[in-house]
Amino acid sequence: MQPEKSNRYIYLISFIAALGGLMFGFDIAIISGAVPFIKEYFQLDELQLGWAVSSLLVGCIFGSVVAGKLSDRIGRKRLLIWIALIFAVTSIVTAIAQSFPLFIFGRLIGGLAVGAASVISPLYIAEVAPHFIRGKLVSLNQLAITIGIFVSYFINYMLHDIGEDSWRWMFASGAIPSVIFFGLLFLVPESPRWLLYAGRKLEALKIFKKIGGDNASLDDISSHERTAKNESGGLSDLVNPKYRKPLMVGIFLAVLIQITGINTVIDYAPIILKSAGETIDTALFQTFIIGFINFAFTFIAIFTIDRIGRKPLYIAGSIGMSLSLLLLSLGFFFDFVQGVYGLILLLLFIGFFAACIGPTFWVLLSEMFPGKIRGVAISVAVFTNWLMNFLVVLFFPYVLQNFGGGVTFGILSLMAALMIVFTVLFIPETKGKSLEEIDKQWLIDRAK
Ligand code: BGC
Repeated sequence: MQPEKSNRYIYLISFIAALGGLMFGFDIAIISGAVPFIKEYFQLDELQLGWAVSSLLVGCIFGSVVAGKLSDRIGRKRLLIWIALIFAVTSIVTAIAQSFPLFIFGRLIGGLAVGAASVISPLYIAEVAPHFIRGKLVSLNQLAITIGIFVSYFINYMLHDIGEDSWRWMFASGAIPSVIFFGLLFLVPESPRWLLYAGRKLEALKIFKKIGGDNASLDDISSHERTAKNESGGLSDLVNPKYRKPLMVGIFLAVLIQITGINTVIDYAPIILKSAGETIDTALFQTFIIGFINFAFTFIAIFTIDRIGRKPLYIAGSIGMSLSLLLLSLGFFFDFVQGVYGLILLLLFIGFFAACIGPTFWVLLSEMFPGKIRGVAISVAVFTNWLMNFLVVLFFPYVLQNFGGGVTFGILSLMAALMIVFTVLFIPETKGKSLEEIDKQWLIDRAK
């Protein structure tokens, strides 16, 4: 295939795979609009309500753990097809649930699919992408997450006053993109790296040709094949001192991205804005604006990540997040956070996250691990991401209520400051390197 054509093809299949990210964003955010209705319908107390929200995340934790190994066994594409199917079915199950246990069942199983998608979509894209646009292509996954969040805020805003059944329509609407995702997946090929790993060299060769233009020479194939052959790492490899550093870096990246508070804003923006003095209607509308900025600013990363690199973006983002959080904290302490000022600070925080941190995090995870542990290591890091997400979302309302906005955002600001230090000291620059070169770089670092 001509290089231009093959690039178009790679964009197309990456877009389709990134729809897993769209479902991820949709599913985590749709609940925020449904909360008042399900509380009423199922007669929930505070704890049950917390469980209704966080049960999805419990599913995600498990989904991310099994996804890596499962996709090694059945293939990336086939697992994505299952994920799409589960998304569709569970959207309907939660929408029509007449009892709370059935509703929770739908959330838990839906969570399995979200967790699995969060591992497999970026992994698939990284495995089909040429290295010079890999950052851009994997960032599409984060763009899709932000579109999912934005669309669900929009649906929530549009449906919130159509009556007591509106929550059912909110959940049911998730079935539409799931079915489209399911159908489009039949157009994508299996990941060629996975095919090599599964010993299906001829099929892999065909796909490498299609995505690598006329340059897909046998040399390339055999270099991929050598790496793929080594890619049979299991859990036991994770304790090998050789892999300790990349694994720790991955785990800390996941801890930091969550404890700097992104999901306190994604899930609780209306509550934060209300506690800063807004009415609920205004708060819901402003949340919608936050969703838009989260989406729009992701383009900054898409267009810069392969040029200026991962590390400078991460440093800039951490500094911006830390400062906006510090100003928010001071705003609560000195009582100047009301009105447009609080909103601007939340937008600044989200803007820095979206432009620098969100996309880069997923790009780094998909490419930074040595080939041998890539599948399991991504699972471990993404598992940590969901676990921390769960804990932060669970405890945030309590901390905000008992310690106030000043202390809460002060702590988050400190965490973002820690992320600056961590980035400078430990994050590797992976821009412009093939996955095989990144692999070698860890060995060289270790030998130093
Ligand atoms: C994070 C999510 C977050 C989303 C916001 C993702 O990269 O993993 O936890 O909700 O970005 O856009």
